[in-house]
Amino acid sequence: MSGIRLLDAADAEAFRALRLAALERHPCEFGAAYQEEAAQTVAEVRQCLARETVFGGFVDGTLHGVAGFGQLPGAKKCHKGVLWGVYVAAGARGHGLGRALVGHVIEHARAQVDQLHATVVTVNQAARHIYRKLGFHPYGLEPRALKVGDRYYDQELLVLPFAPAPSAHREVAEASSPSTSPSVRPDRLST
Ligand SMILES: CC(C)(COP(=O)(O)OP(=O)(O)OC[C@H]1O[C@@H](n2cnc3c(N)ncnc32)[C@H](O)[C@@H]1OP(=O)(O)O)[C@@H](O)C(=O)NCCC(=O)NCCS
Repeated sequence: MSGIRLLDAADAEAFRALRLAALERHPCEFGAAYQEEAAQTVAEVRQCLARETVFGGFVDGTLHGVAGFGQLPGAKKCHKGVLWGVYVAAGARGHGLGRALVGHVIEHARAQVDQLHATVVTVNQAARHIYRKLGFHPYGLEPRALKVGDRYYDQELLVLPFAPAPSAHREVAEASSPSTSPSVRPDRLST
């Protein structure tokens, strides 16, 4: 039996163990470092889960995968959300859990923000494949985004827009009904 649900404070120990395994085994895939998060106590992780949005994927009652959602702070940035911490334990991979977890974050984010951002190191073909399949598209590349040991990793920047920008609304409205717009004369439309 497998399923996905939001994690809460009671999942702190299982989440901490899975998250630390992710950071230890895949240092190049995550912006956070194992040593930094290993220093967090279970009580701190409990507090974190009480305020953050983290989906957990369970197989036979055991946590095997996670994916988090965060909303940027500030009046001018709170329309943006961030997908973070996507991880599936090695033994559970290849059965659709990773994609399902990201899908849950997308559906949650759709009700909260106008667009969802993600970053992925360019060498991570599996994650890039999933994100594209779920509708993210790349808009940039950050060279040397991560440094692990003496090696640099570039990160692809991706976005999944939910709502058209208000300016796009305006342009479409003006172009489709020129006679209702006093500032646009029909004879000017061809120039
Ligand atoms: C990325 C990760 C979450 C995927 O989890 P998963 O449960 O195996 O994912 P799914 O089974 O839902 O889907 C895997 C997809 O990737 C594809 N894939 C796997 N390896 C691939 C590769 N090397 N190149 C291209 N696609 C690949 C699979 O074919 C599958 O796509 P499909 O369903 O269209 O056939 C998992 O591999 C993982 O935790 N990796 C380490 C941590 C990590 O990279 N996190 C992401 C940080 S951005």
